[in-house]
Amino acid sequence: MEVILAEHAGFCFGVKRAVDTVYEQIENRKKDGGPIYTFGPIIHNEEVVRDLQERGVEVLSSLEEAEALPAAERGTVIIRSHGVEKRVYEKLQELGFEVVDATCPFVKRIHTTVERESAAGKSIIIVGNAGHPEVEGIRGWSGASTYIIESVKEAEKFVRRDGEELCIVSQTTFNYKKFQDVVEIFNQKGYNGSVVNTVCNATEVRQAEARELAARVDVMIVIGGNHSSNTRKLYEICRQECRMTYYIQTLDDLHLQLPKSVRLVGITAGASTPNNIIEEVQNYVRINF
Ligand code: F3S
Repeated sequence: MEVILAEHAGFCFGVKRAVDTVYEQIENRKKDGGPIYTFGPIIHNEEVVRDLQERGVEVLSSLEEAEALPAAERGTVIIRSHGVEKRVYEKLQELGFEVVDATCPFVKRIHTTVERESAAGKSIIIVGNAGHPEVEGIRGWSGASTYIIESVKEAEKFVRRDGEELCIVSQTTFNYKKFQDVVEIFNQKGYNGSVVNTVCNATEVRQAEARELAARVDVMIVIGGNHSSNTRKLYEICRQECRMTYYIQTLDDLHLQLPKSVRLVGITAGASTPNNIIEEVQNYVRINF
């Protein structure tokens, strides 16, 4: 039997980079000492966060928490891939933390654009979900009026002030089609300004690849957290193509009884599934079937 692992299973580039940064900092600390924190959980995966905690990495949930720490405990703080507002960097530095920036470069690019365009006098439109940490972070780099637009309906209601020039960006994980629809409405309204497409295609690539793989294999295994909406979506996509699709969180959930006729097994994983879990499942299937 052959096992095929999807090339883009699990962490996207930005999340992998951020998680690797934390482990690198742990290695560095072995030389230098000093506490390490992440600003918010580095990733929405309890096992990873627990593993880091066991290695002495704590999560700081807010600036207030950072401020409450005695000066001697203010070590290194790592910014996760979502990024943060500009004032968060400044405040952490002012408090004496060493800030290690693991913001995904694609998100960083939005910060730079928003900072530059707002300084040039444009108002900023962020197409994305209000309250999402990435969107809040982006907003925090704008020095001018900033609006968050979540839907076509909101775009239709939006009225520009006289002479107001706009710069439109999007949350990286926003649906590209919806982003285009919103931009189209602004065009119809005749609002001038710049549009920077900052949708990241990591999710789309993972989904397209999963669909293609599921259509080829006899059995498909999708690995990811129970509450992970992107894993559920992957499962649904695969299930449409392959009737024998299994959704598991870890190897413990895998109780496969495969018919003899099964020749090809495909594996993919959601965005917050760590590599070691994917490898465990892959090795298990390879060895046992
Ligand atoms: Fe991931 Fe960065 Fe894209 S965090 S989803 S690669 S914007």
